[in-house]
Amino acid sequence: MKAKKALIHPGWLRIMHWVNALAVIVLMMSGWRIYNATAFLGFAIPKDITLGGWLGGAIMWHFAAMWVLAINGLLYLGLNLATGRLRHKFFPLSARALLSDVRAALKGQLAHADPQHYNMVQRLAYLFVMVDSVLLVLSGLVLWKSVQFPLLRELLGGYEGARLVHFFAMAALAAFILVHLVMVALVPRTLLYMVRGR
Ligand code: HEM
Repeated sequence: MKAKKALIHPGWLRIMHWVNALAVIVLMMSGWRIYNATAFLGFAIPKDITLGGWLGGAIMWHFAAMWVLAINGLLYLGLNLATGRLRHKFFPLSARALLSDVRAALKGQLAHADPQHYNMVQRLAYLFVMVDSVLLVLSGLVLWKSVQFPLLRELLGGYEGARLVHFFAMAALAAFILVHLVMVALVPRTLLYMVRGR
């Protein structure tokens, strides 16, 4: 009998990852359209890479995808915590291991020998994007219902503060996606594991 290959990513994780990726892309492109309506940082995002056609359309896309991201994200975090996967996959963190992994990455020699384990660069990048996504949802809540969330609003520096936090958390997420895609392109078999699980 043929030996079954080890499972790298369980089915629930793969489904959530791809649902999340789709939601984030819709959120980002519709968000750029919403930003263009005020362009409060003094520049506009090229219309061709935005979604929604007009402000009202973009807001509808943004809200629909926001629910997908929030529910899917809560399920992802909940399952990762409940199954102990979060602790097991993303911890412990070590500054020394991070330095040596960054050095190896810059030389193009970062080890991916064992796909069951994330190296320190992967761990930090994925933990960072989890925290950044929570910040995006919380600052988005303030922009949507600023009167109903006064404490959160004040913690984020008021409505205008939340607007800046939301924009820069989006920019950080965009930077993560760029690095993420480069890393996946450098080790394409990780994509296969995220699609097929094994
Ligand atoms: C559409 C483009 C995307 C592709 C092709 C892609 C691909 C992948 C692949 C292949 C992995 C496994 C990589 C590894 O073994 O290190 C992975 C993991 C991960 N990706 Fe993506 N990804 C995409 C978008 C995103 C987005 C938009 C986010 C977050 C907003 C994201 C967050 C993550 C996280 C957190 C993990 C670790 C998952 C875990 O093990 O719990 N990805 N991605």
